[in-house]
Amino acid sequence: MLNANLSPDVVNGFLDGKPKLLLIDGKFVPAVSGRTFDSINPATGKVLAQVAEGGVEDIDLAVAAARRAFDDGPWSRFTPFERQAVLLRLADLVEANFDEIAMLDTLDLGAPITNTRARKQRAVALLRYYAGQATTIHGQTLPNSSAGEVLSYTVKEPIGVVGAIIPWNGPFGMAVWKLAPALAAGCTLVLKPAEPAPLSPLRLGELCLEAGIPPGVVNVVNGPGSVVGAALAAHPGVDKISFTGSTATGQAIVRAAAGNVKKVTLELGGKSPNIVFDDADLDAAVPGAAMAVFANSGQICSAGTRLFVQRGIYDEFVERVSVFTRKLRVGSPLDPNTQLGPLVSEVQLERVTGYLESGKAQGARAAVGGGRLLSDDLAGGYFVEPTLFADVTDQMKIAQEEIFGPVISALPFDTAEEAVARGNATTYGLGSGVWTNNLANAHRVAKGLRAGSVWVNCYQLMDPAVPFGGYKMSGTGRESGPDHIEDFLETKAVWIKTG
Ligand code: NAI
Ligand code: MG
Repeated sequence: MLNANLSPDVVNGFLDGKPKLLLIDGKFVPAVSGRTFDSINPATGKVLAQVAEGGVEDIDLAVAAARRAFDDGPWSRFTPFERQAVLLRLADLVEANFDEIAMLDTLDLGAPITNTRARKQRAVALLRYYAGQATTIHGQTLPNSSAGEVLSYTVKEPIGVVGAIIPWNGPFGMAVWKLAPALAAGCTLVLKPAEPAPLSPLRLGELCLEAGIPPGVVNVVNGPGSVVGAALAAHPGVDKISFTGSTATGQAIVRAAAGNVKKVTLELGGKSPNIVFDDADLDAAVPGAAMAVFANSGQICSAGTRLFVQRGIYDEFVERVSVFTRKLRVGSPLDPNTQLGPLVSEVQLERVTGYLESGKAQGARAAVGGGRLLSDDLAGGYFVEPTLFADVTDQMKIAQEEIFGPVISALPFDTAEEAVARGNATTYGLGSGVWTNNLANAHRVAKGLRAGSVWVNCYQLMDPAVPFGGYKMSGTGRESGPDHIEDFLETKAVWIKTG
C-alpha cells in the first residue's frame, strides 16, 4: 500500500493537463509566440506536461516587469522586516507543499522520491536563513582623513534586477538558492529554469504569489537556454546574473554580460578529487566514495569523480566499492527503496554512455557497471549502471572531463604530495574529499587542495551558513554563507561636509 504522500497523484492539481505557463508580472501567461515544449519523465521517456516556451519577447516583458517592481513598484517600499516576513511565509508554504514539490522533481528529473523528499529541510532552511539576513544588511561609518570636518559612511543597496539561470540537477533547490538571497537583499528576479526540469520552479512562482510577494518581483520564463538564457544574459535591463551550470555556458554568459557590465557570479562544473589514505576508516570511506558520485545518479557538480586511493589498499578498496555498488537499488524513482534513478534526459544518456565507451576504448577496466541499464521494468527510461572504472590513468578522457553521470574513475597514488598535485591537476576546483584518520595529514591535504570545498571523512555536506563555490574554472563567487548576500548589494559611499 503506497503512502498517500508518495503517490504521483499529489501533483494532479498542478499538472492538470493544461500547458504550464510563464510567470510574468504576477500572472501566468502563454509565450508571446504561443509555442510550447514537452517536459519528459526520464524514467519512462513519456511526456509529463506541456510547458510554454518563452522567447526573446517574453524575456523583454519579464525584465520590464522586474524593472518596474524594482524601480518604483511596491517592492522598493518593502522594509527589511517586510521582506523578511514574506520570505518566512514563503518558507512555510514550501514546507507545507513539499510532498508535491518533491514529487514534481521526481517526475521531471527522475531523482528518487526518498531523495527529493529529503531536500525539504535544505530548501526551507535556505529561505529562513536568508530571511534572517534581510534585517541585518548594513553599511559602516568610516573615518577619513580629509581636511575639515567630513563624515563618511556607506549604505548597502540592492543591485537591481537579477537574472537567475539554473540547471536541471536540483531544480527546486537551485531556484530557492538564487531567489532567497536576491529577495532578502531587495532585488527582483527573472528566473530561467533548465529545459529538462521546468516544472518545480513554476510551482515556486505560484507559492511566491501566495506568500504575498508583489507582481513582477519574481518572474519565471522557461525556454531554450541558447535563446531565453542568452537574452537574459545580454539584456541591458538586467543588473546581475547568477548562473549555475556548465563551464562552457558560463563562459558564454560572461561574454554576453559584458555589454552592460553586469555583475556575474558563476557556479560551474567540476572533476573533484576524493582522496582515500590507507589509514582511513574504510567502513565509512567505501560508501562515502561511492555516494560521492552515485547520489543523484552522478548529476552533481561537486561529485567526487576522481577517486584517488593509496596504493596499499587500492585493490581491496576498488573491490569493496564494487561490492557496495552492486547492492545499490537502481530503478523507478517512485519506489521509496530506489537509490539511483535514471539520467535526466536522452541527451545526458548519450553523453554518459559515450564516456563509458571512451573509458573502455582507452583501456580502463569496469570493475562494476559500464553500460546502459536495460530491463523490461525500466523500458523507455534513461538508466545507466553505476560504474567504477579501475586502471584509469590521469590522461584518459574519463579522468579529465566532467561526465555528470554515475561514473567513478579510481586512480592509485603513493604519497600525500602526489595526491594533492594530481588532485589539483585539472582546470576545475569545486569539491574535494579526504579520508584519513591522521589529523595532521587531513589539515595538510586540505590546505594543499585548490577547491572551494574540502570534505574530510565526509562528502557533499552543505549548509545555508557555509559558503560553496569554485576555484579556477569551477566558477566565481560563493553561494551560501554570511557573505553571499553581498553579491546582491551595491555599496554607496556618502560624504557629508559638516565643518
Ligand atoms: P548548461 O550549462 O548549458 O545549462 C544550464 C542552464 O543554462 C540551463 O538553464 C540552460 O538553458 C542555460 N543556458 C544554455 N545555454 C545558454 C546560453 N548561451 N546563455 C544563457 N543560458 C544558457 O548545461 P546542460 O547543457 O544542461 O548540460 C551539459 C553539461 O553541463 C552536463 O553534462 C554537465 O557536465 C554540465 N552541467 C553542470 C552543472 C553544474 O551544476 N555544474 C549543471 C548542469 C550541467
Ligand atoms: Mg523532465
